[in-house]
Amino acid sequence: MAILIDGIGELTTNCATGRLRDAALVLDGEQIAWVGPSRAAPAADERVDVAGRAVLPGWVDSHTHLVFAGDRTAEFEARMSGKPYSAGGIAVTVDATRAATDEQLAANLRRHAEEALRQGTTCLETKTGYGLSVVDEVRSARIAAEVADEVTFLGAHIIPPDSLSYVDLVCGEMLDAVADSVHWADVFCEEGAFDEAQSERVLCAAAARGLGLRVHGNQLGHGPGVQLAVRHGAASVDHCTYLTDADVDALASSDTVATLLPACDLSTRQPLAAARRLLDAGAVVALASNANPGSSYTTSMAFCVATAVLQMRMSVEEAVWAATAGGARALRRDDVGVIRPGARADVQVLEAPSVTHLAYRPGVPLTWAVWQRGVHRMF
Ligand code: NIG
Repeated sequence: MAILIDGIGELTTNCATGRLRDAALVLDGEQIAWVGPSRAAPAADERVDVAGRAVLPGWVDSHTHLVFAGDRTAEFEARMSGKPYSAGGIAVTVDATRAATDEQLAANLRRHAEEALRQGTTCLETKTGYGLSVVDEVRSARIAAEVADEVTFLGAHIIPPDSLSYVDLVCGEMLDAVADSVHWADVFCEEGAFDEAQSERVLCAAAARGLGLRVHGNQLGHGPGVQLAVRHGAASVDHCTYLTDADVDALASSDTVATLLPACDLSTRQPLAAARRLLDAGAVVALASNANPGSSYTTSMAFCVATAVLQMRMSVEEAVWAATAGGARALRRDDVGVIRPGARADVQVLEAPSVTHLAYRPGVPLTWAVWQRGVHRMF
C-alpha cells in the first residue's frame, strides 16, 4: 500500500543539500518510493497531511548496550557526588545479566527499543558484552538479534574477575559460538579493559571469521584505540573523547567513522568529544546514544543532537546528519539514514516546523510521528 506524506514544511533528506520546503514523499511497503515537491506528488492509497511540520530520516543509533539486567542508580549517584567513572562498574551489570532469564533480558531490550522508537530511532545497533561467558554471550547475541537491526559481539568488554586466559576464550570458543549470529565484533581498548596487544588479537580473530570491526577507544584517556581501529579498517571507533592531533589526522584520512557519544561524556563527567576538530579536519562523525545502564542511560538521540549543537559546536545540519546518515556510515549501510527512493521507509515527523527546534527547544519531546519499515506510528 502506498502512503503519501504531504504538506511537509521542511524536509531533510541527507541527499540534496540543505532542507527542502513544501515537499512530499511516498512510502510503498517497506521502502520509500518517491520524494519531491508537494505540487508534483503522485496519487497514493492513503494521504497523511503533516501540516507544515519538519520531516527527516529516523535516527540511526549505531551504539547501544541494551542486552542487560539490573540497575546502577547507586553508582550514578556516587559519580554525581564526585566518584570517577571506571570500567569496573560493568561487572555489576554482568552479575545481574547472568542471573536474569532469557525472557527478562528480551523484555528489557524490547522496552528500551520501544522507548527509542517513540523518540524517532528507527534503526538500532546493540551489543552483547554483559554476559562474558560463552553461554551468556551466545544468549545475549540471540536475544539482541530478535530486536536490533545490527548486533555486535563485545565479549571483549572487560576481563571478568574470575577468568584465566580470557582473551584466548574470546578469540576462540566464544567467537566460534557467536559468529553466526552477529554482524560485528568490538573491543573495549582502554586501561582497565583490554590493552593494545589484547585488542589487536580480538580484532584479528574476528576479522578472520568475516565479522566487521568496531572499537571502543579513547574514552577515559589518551590511548591506542583510534590508531588501532584505523589500522584494522574498523567501520567505527566509538567515544573518541581524548584525541591527539595524530588521532584526528588518522581518522580524517581513513574510512573509520568517529562515533561520538555526548550523553556518555556528560554522564561520566568527561569532557565532550572534540567534534569541531574532527569535522574541520575532514573526519566522518556519527552521533549515538550509547544507551547502557552504567555510563549513559538514555535512548534519546534528540538529546545527543541538542548537546552536539549547543555544546560541541556542531551545526544543526551536521548534528542531524551525524545522528542519521553518520550512524548509517558507522554501520556501513546506505539504506537507512536517508530519504531517497529505494531507501528503507524509516521517517520521523517533528512537532516543529524545522529541525533547528531540536536544539532550539532542548529536552522537549518533539517526535510527532514515526514510520519504521513503512509501518506508521502516530503519537
Ligand atoms: O560504552 N566503554 C565501555 N562500555 C560502555 C560502558 C558500559 C557500562 O559502564 O556498563 C560504554 O560506555
